[in-house]
Amino acid sequence: MTVSSAPGKVYLFGEHAVVYGEPAVPCAIERRATVTVERRDDDHVRVRASDLSLNGFTVEYAGSTDDRPDVDVPAPLVEAAMGYIDAAVEQARDAADAPGVGFDITVESEIPLGAGLGSSAAVTVAGIDAATRALGAPLSAEAVADRAYRAESMVQDGQASRADTFCSAVGGAVRIEGDDCRAIETPNLPFVVGFDGGAGDTGELVAGVRALKSEYGFADDTVTAIGDIVRTGERLLDPEVDTDADTLVELGRLMDFNHGLLEALGVSSRSLDSMVWAAREAGAHGAKLTGAGGGGCIVALDPTPETLTALRFTPGCDEAFRAELATDGVRRLE
Ligand code: MEV
Repeated sequence: MTVSSAPGKVYLFGEHAVVYGEPAVPCAIERRATVTVERRDDDHVRVRASDLSLNGFTVEYAGSTDDRPDVDVPAPLVEAAMGYIDAAVEQARDAADAPGVGFDITVESEIPLGAGLGSSAAVTVAGIDAATRALGAPLSAEAVADRAYRAESMVQDGQASRADTFCSAVGGAVRIEGDDCRAIETPNLPFVVGFDGGAGDTGELVAGVRALKSEYGFADDTVTAIGDIVRTGERLLDPEVDTDADTLVELGRLMDFNHGLLEALGVSSRSLDSMVWAAREAGAHGAKLTGAGGGGCIVALDPTPETLTALRFTPGCDEAFRAELATDGVRRLE
């Protein structure tokens, strides 16, 4: 039996625009998905998920995964979760040159599904790491990141960047621009997350931005402007530059700007906007949605307890918590 965990993430800046080659800065956070893998003697794959914002489900299948048993949870959520697990299994089989091998897989996650915190990347990364080790073919964190990216791209019809999967595999703060992925240093960033209890469909949201971009030049310019925000913001993260309160103020202002542009691209929602405004009114340096949007989470920058308290009293906010940077990416537990 092998057990691996991988962290979720928040985006300081750059989601959506990163799909079109602009830079982005996601940061891994200490909320993890843990995947346990045991090799089977047959070619069946049995998946048990105890908490993916679902009530939990167990499915077993062999061969084609289109032929899934009925389970008593909303089909789109099961489909989403299963899609990533299937793709991770395929990548692990391919990496270990073990086609058709079967597994018992258990997924436990502290990261709500489809909420912008990188649950699918974390499950995919931890799954590939645990499954390749179960097959006696362990991969480096970078190779796991690459396999996980291929898995995500498959599920999202080719519309994925390397950001979520690289961040989850290597941990810490990272900078992604196209295929160029690297770990970066950041000052201590006091992240507060607000979660509306909902989820967005990443594939649909990415397709919506793509359609807007191809219809309107100004939507295309909006994507480039998000890249300009990242290029401006990353200068403030330079470890050579002294970090002071003004740095956080400036980073917050850029986060606010980034949220405005994501809103213009149609990926925010009433509840995300209302959490963003609650954070700003509580004195956060800045706040924005994180991840694909449509529902899910916002991230704010506030070293004081004010934003956390305000979010907990904001109608539409289900849960609020302080998110620590996860310095480890994929972790091998057994
Ligand atoms: C989703 O967490 C982030 C997006 O930029 C999609 C991607 O980068 O693959 C919306």
